[in-house]
Amino acid sequence: MRKSCDQRPEANGRVNDTAVIILAAGLGKRMRSKMAKVLHPVAGQPMVWHVVRLAASMTRLPVVVVLGHQAERVQTFLAERRKELPPFEVALQPQQRGTGDAVKQAVQVFAAQQTVFPRVCVILNGDTPLLRESTVNMLVAHHCVHRAAITILTAQLDDPTGYGRVLRDAHGQVRKIVEDRDATPDELLTKEVNVGTYVVDGAFLPQALAQLTPYNTQGEYYLTDLVEIAITQGKRVEAVQAEDAIECLGVNTREHLAVAEQVMRQRIRKHWLDAGVTMLDPQTTFIDATVTIGCDTVLYPHVALEGKTTIGEACVIRAHSRVTRCQLQDQVVVEDCCVLEDALVEEGCVIGPFARLRPGTRVRKRAKVGNFVELKNTELGEESKANHLAYLGDAQIGRQVNIGAGTITCNYDGFRKSRTVIDDEVFIGSDTQLIAPVTIGKGAVIGAGSTITQDVPADALALSRAQQVTRMGGASRRRALHDKHSSVSSSNNPTRHPHGASS
Ligand code: UD1
Ligand code: CA
Repeated sequence: MRKSCDQRPEANGRVNDTAVIILAAGLGKRMRSKMAKVLHPVAGQPMVWHVVRLAASMTRLPVVVVLGHQAERVQTFLAERRKELPPFEVALQPQQRGTGDAVKQAVQVFAAQQTVFPRVCVILNGDTPLLRESTVNMLVAHHCVHRAAITILTAQLDDPTGYGRVLRDAHGQVRKIVEDRDATPDELLTKEVNVGTYVVDGAFLPQALAQLTPYNTQGEYYLTDLVEIAITQGKRVEAVQAEDAIECLGVNTREHLAVAEQVMRQRIRKHWLDAGVTMLDPQTTFIDATVTIGCDTVLYPHVALEGKTTIGEACVIRAHSRVTRCQLQDQVVVEDCCVLEDALVEEGCVIGPFARLRPGTRVRKRAKVGNFVELKNTELGEESKANHLAYLGDAQIGRQVNIGAGTITCNYDGFRKSRTVIDDEVFIGSDTQLIAPVTIGKGAVIGAGSTITQDVPADALALSRAQQVTRMGGASRRRALHDKHSSVSSSNNPTRHPHGASS
């Protein structure tokens, strides 16, 4: 037989034989949203993502996530992000009959697999995204040392409104948790709240869940009633107060969500500041939880780094630029007011100001993308330059190519998209339209103002503009013609120009 609570964390911080259950089936009425509460993002990632990730180091068993409201949507999200998450399974809670009922569904997953229920069970609310792994590990350690039936995390709050209150007896022992809506005025004065993070003995949990009743103001099976059940059975209840109360924030409203966002962003900024990233104005720097940044990178005010973005070392990202799901290698400079999405930018490139890199853009080493240049599904080769006012879409551009100002790859004929291929060392003169599909051979030169409709072989010079016409004295003749015309029209229409003034 296994000894009770022999789950001391191993050297790697993992605990053996631990079940982790995450409650995420609720609608979250107070959010006033059409989307399930746990899908609302904090620092760019849904709350449930943060909580499931938290469980990664706590167990080797699959984490059981209880889903109900919009279960399919939440499950699809989790499945899509499987690589970033610990192994998990879903337990369906068909009706949201309370947190106790939710845990029952999770326990049934273990029963269905005929696995012995783990000795220790960690239960987390899906709406506490700020909770830290170290806090939960501390709670588990405390639980094991004290051989408790249930150990709860509590917090001391100035404003405990909405939370379950932790009631203690004269000796300071926890006696019960009373929900905000069920509490007497006296009980409401208690400022110690239940965080919604529990460690429960695996032998106690299933039988105690069977004893829950829905006799309360909400008609729900409250998980929190386990405390009283344990005490009635003469079992030990432990409580640990969190050092940092903000970690315990349960997001029930948009206001809470905004607070969680601020706190999470601040943590992320601190992390990257500690890792050697400079931020000129941290308060206006937005970094999602999924971003990584190399040391000596400098972020100017109002920069947003979103999604799975990686920024290399010694990069500079200037003000008002947004980088979403991109990979920027070392020493990349992004000048002011750029928008980059799903793009790869290799070492030493300079982007912007006012550039837009759309999905599928690959900018190779030391290339330059200048002002008002847009790239889509395009590769710009090593040391190539598109410095001003260009649209390059569905194009393959080689090394050391010069793309003149105003160049446009005409990739769309109204029906389908076609590719433009520009080989190494090509020079494209300003104001050129390349009508795709078209290929420009290595080292070719395109004269400014050309409309290129046919392939240009390597080393050729192509020019498609009309011959220039120059007429000596033509300018004054034109002005005279204009004067004559305007005097005729004003005498024909005296009411329009009563004083004969030209308009
Ligand atoms: C719960 C606690 C309360 C605690 C607070 C901390 C209970 C009865 N109350 O209250 O003591 O102070 O959390 O934030 O547990 N859920 C389900 N199925 C359900 C109901 C809820 O999965 O049938 C999930 C929700 O999706 C949510 C979590 O459980 O992630 C908590 O539910 P919520 O309704 O927010 O509980 P609170 O009223 O905040
Ligand atoms: Ca809550």
